[in-house]
Amino acid sequence: MSPVAIAAGAPESGYTYGILAFLLVCLVAWIYRERTRAIRAERLLSATRRFALGDLTGGSGIRGPDELGVLADAVDQMAKQLRSVTGALRGRQEWFRMLLEHGSDVILTLDAQWQIGFAGPSLPHVLGWTPDQVARRPLAEFIHPNDAEAVQAALEGAVMRSGFGEPIAFRFRHSDGSWRSLEAVGNHPRDWPGPEHLIVTARDITPRERLESQLRQAQKMEALGRFAGGVAHDFNNLLTAIQGYASLLLFDLGPIDPRREDLEEIRKASERAAALTRQILAFSHRQVSEPEPVDLNLLIEDLERMIPRLIGEDVAVVTALDPGLGVVNADPRQLEQVIMNLVVNARDAMPEGGRLTIETANEAVAEDDPRASPDLPPGPYIVLTVGDTGTGIDPEIQANIFDPFFTTKEPGRGTGLGLSTVYGIVKQIGGHIEVDSELGRGADFRIYLPELPGARVERAARPAALPAPRGSETILLVEDEESVRVFANKALEKQGYTVLEARHGRDALMRLAEHAGPVHLVITDMVMPEMSGGELARRLAGERPEVPVLFMSGYSDGEIAHRGLGATSAYLQKPFTSDVLARKVREVLG
Ligand SMILES: Nc1ncnc2c1ncn2[C@@H]1O[C@H](COP(=O)(O)OP(=O)(O)OP(=O)(O)O)[C@@H](O)[C@H]1O
Ligand SMILES: [Mg+2]
Repeated sequence: MSPVAIAAGAPESGYTYGILAFLLVCLVAWIYRERTRAIRAERLLSATRRFALGDLTGGSGIRGPDELGVLADAVDQMAKQLRSVTGALRGRQEWFRMLLEHGSDVILTLDAQWQIGFAGPSLPHVLGWTPDQVARRPLAEFIHPNDAEAVQAALEGAVMRSGFGEPIAFRFRHSDGSWRSLEAVGNHPRDWPGPEHLIVTARDITPRERLESQLRQAQKMEALGRFAGGVAHDFNNLLTAIQGYASLLLFDLGPIDPRREDLEEIRKASERAAALTRQILAFSHRQVSEPEPVDLNLLIEDLERMIPRLIGEDVAVVTALDPGLGVVNADPRQLEQVIMNLVVNARDAMPEGGRLTIETANEAVAEDDPRASPDLPPGPYIVLTVGDTGTGIDPEIQANIFDPFFTTKEPGRGTGLGLSTVYGIVKQIGGHIEVDSELGRGADFRIYLPELPGARVERAARPAALPAPRGSETILLVEDEESVRVFANKALEKQGYTVLEARHGRDALMRLAEHAGPVHLVITDMVMPEMSGGELARRLAGERPEVPVLFMSGYSDGEIAHRGLGATSAYLQKPFTSDVLARKVREVLG
């Protein structure tokens, strides 16, 4: 090759190299651009997938004026929008959950087979179950068998109906095994395509039911108490006349008169009737209790003579009385009633015979004693135990035996008032009762009565042994019931007193104004027309404070007694005999 040719060929090849280099650069640039675009497309795709799976955090990170950049921007906008909608939805969901969880009502859904689907989050604190524990289980598993039929009918009725019907009450099993009373309504979501066939809203009405039943019980007892108290009141007036006239006749008859025996029978029968009205009054809490220091041993020894007659020959009576027994402050007649009611129950529990035990003991309940409770505060007690070897008490009914009218005896044999009376009296004294019994192994009733520290009781001479005391004072006798007034007048005159009679409070004030001489005592009934005994006493306290007042009543609730009885007044429970009246009058006059 010639140098010229060589020299001429050089610019040509330089040009070619230039083109080649340019093409190479273009190729590299193209490859780079395609690669970058592929990476951006890949990133956009993975961001889109992430959004689709629900992770809306961050953006695609792709920018640029090209189509990919514009697309990425649109996808980012969509994700942002979704983020805000999802956030709002989640907030709303939380709000509904909060409503359901903190509401007291339980919401359940049932499918067409009456299986539970959804259960609201309030379920655990209303019925103990977690929603998972009840899900897919038939509703019937939780319903009380006695309510199952009514619930089934209500469910079917709810599906037929549109809207809410009347609520239905039924018992639902709590996870702890107890029954809770629910009141529920069901609603059928007609257009709903899901398996939810019925939406049930239920409310726990157990506390309301308990309160209602307590209120009903209290109202029943109040009405019955009023009725019983009213009957006892009238009865006591009649008994005062019967006992009174019998005692006046006995007084007139000679000691060997053959009619004495008949009169004694009348007197005894009226005493039994009086004991019965005392029972009614104690039960209706309308008895004025007259507490005094009582030695329970002496009281039981007095009763012991009567007990064998009461319980029959097949029952052996064993008494174990603590000789060092302390004293209690209680109304002895009420204590007698407690013992007699327990003894009669023991007898009834031993139709085939057995052993009746009456025990007394001193017992101290210490601070750390397991028996100590608000019902049995620590302190010294006198414990009376009446036990038997009879049928025993079924544990199922032990909680009910103190309820008024609870009896397992056939109609006519028991009223179910015995133990409720015992309970009322023991509570009034501030005591406590415990029952220890097993079926077939008898029952022990242990009664704790607070000890009256430092008191002693001497056995009193029998009052009937002494003749009734006499007097010559003037007494104003106020009583609306004529038979009682006439009897009391006779009885008082017989003992030497001068008696002014009045039919009610207003009448009494007139008699007082008319009477020129002194009046030493006013004996007045409590419940009277025109002006009650309490009102009369208040008027007298202003006008003649020196005159003592002796109230008598066959019925007196604590309030009347409390309002009426002042410092210079005393109380006489009807019925009373001429002897008791004479002693009481002398006691008040001094
Ligand atoms: N000692 C006992 N042994 C077995 N069961 C008893 C005993 N004491 C009471 N009960 C049961 O408690 C129930 C209620 O007793 P409560 O004395 O209140 O009424 P009652 O004896 O049936 O009737 P009432 O005393 O009015 O005549 C009884 O019916 C009986 O079932
Ligand atoms: Mg009884």
